[in-house]
Amino acid sequence: MSDFAQDLFARTVAEPYRTKVVERLALPARSDRERILAAAFYSPIHLEANDVYIDLITDSGTGAMSDQQWSALMRGDEAYFNSKSFFAFEKSVRDITGFSRVIPTHQGRAAEKIIMELLVDRGDIVLSNTHFDTTKAHVENRGGKPVDLVGDWLWRFDEPSPFKGNVDLDRLEVALERYGDRVPMIIMTVLNNFACSSPVSMANLRDVRRLADKHDIPVFLDASRFAENAYFIKTREGGYGDKSIADIVKEMMSYASGCWMSAKKDAIVNIGGFIATNDERFARLCQEKLVLYEGFYTYGGLAGRDLEAIAVGLREGIDEDYLAHRVRLVATLGELMEQAGARVSKPIGGSGVFVDVEAMYPHLAADKLPSVALCADMYLEGGVRIAAAPFLMHRVSKESGDVFDQVFQLARFAVPRRVYSKSHIEFVAAVVGKVKETARENRGYRIVEMPEILGHFFAKFAPLEA
Ligand code: F0G
Repeated sequence: MSDFAQDLFARTVAEPYRTKVVERLALPARSDRERILAAAFYSPIHLEANDVYIDLITDSGTGAMSDQQWSALMRGDEAYFNSKSFFAFEKSVRDITGFSRVIPTHQGRAAEKIIMELLVDRGDIVLSNTHFDTTKAHVENRGGKPVDLVGDWLWRFDEPSPFKGNVDLDRLEVALERYGDRVPMIIMTVLNNFACSSPVSMANLRDVRRLADKHDIPVFLDASRFAENAYFIKTREGGYGDKSIADIVKEMMSYASGCWMSAKKDAIVNIGGFIATNDERFARLCQEKLVLYEGFYTYGGLAGRDLEAIAVGLREGIDEDYLAHRVRLVATLGELMEQAGARVSKPIGGSGVFVDVEAMYPHLAADKLPSVALCADMYLEGGVRIAAAPFLMHRVSKESGDVFDQVFQLARFAVPRRVYSKSHIEFVAAVVGKVKETARENRGYRIVEMPEILGHFFAKFAPLEA
């Protein structure tokens, strides 16, 4: 017999949690927002969080911890060596990933630094579906070249293929043939953050592993959003509908030699990360680096209480009710933004909605910085903070195997976990509508300051005069 309430729960965006603690938010007046934005050099990075009404600049470390996680904090064992909290953390990571060796790090990029130091040398080519920007920067920091193998389908925003985060296998084959002996590893980012938060299919993970094996190259998962990826495999890929998220995650991990994670995403904590692998020798090398950079290998730059919160958060992150709600909320934002006139990447991804910035500001050429215009307008019109930047990818030509550069103008509306309600989402979409309406009046921006490495974190801008 069908259950009315269960069906309703599955259909609506009703939360599988309720609020226990609240944080006051304020929306500064329009005249204040103008002043604040100018003082922040028109960059969302320099805005003070207190001046932002709805903050969609990242889903990283911005989630709301549960009562269970806050309780776990009190169990934090702050012993320097071999604390109880380490073993709780290790068990949770082992249970969920299936990997036996677990190395805590203070966040994702700390794991990246260690792994790149161990695997990447000058002249190497690191292949990935898409590198996140810190991942890319760490490869470059070692003198390597990060190459992104996501397919052209990514830029066909209106074509609803279910796994746009996949590696383009033709490109991978060409790249392996041409550069195989210079490739120390293949990184599969699940889900694929910079590829519009799109998931990677199990079939793709399997195929990548098969091709990597031919060349004896290890595959690592950047598993920061592994749970959202698993949910999309369950709901979009044939044969997985009846499997549990836990089983899907185990199968995803089984195609990799190891993984690292920024726990600030799918483990719903404010800080933390780890490396996990079955390779004892590699794990030992990671531990040695860890002691040098982060701390002893049973805390890795984290407090015991942080390890406890991750242990609980990882389990909550694979809860299907939670994932279903999260994915529906993000999809709702995407649908409403589309109705409001934005060109959004479809199908809507896991952690946020990606927008085609050029379509929003067709009158602004790239040198007039349309992505700065969108961030500024979202703040001016609604106190909403988002991220947008020209996004440079090193890609491989399918025909010649040559590496070429391509720039995409993308904006990301990232949704923090368990933080905003559907009314907040409706508010954001309405602001998008207003921005779309007034976009033509924006004259564009110029760069005042932009350092070379990870420049967008430091950049300052000024509006162009009419
Ligand atoms: N890998 C991916 C796929 C990420 O999205 C991030 C961070 C990292 C690695 C680095 O982890 O921040 O803990 O050091 N992404 C955040 C974002 C910052 O906004 O997407 P971290």
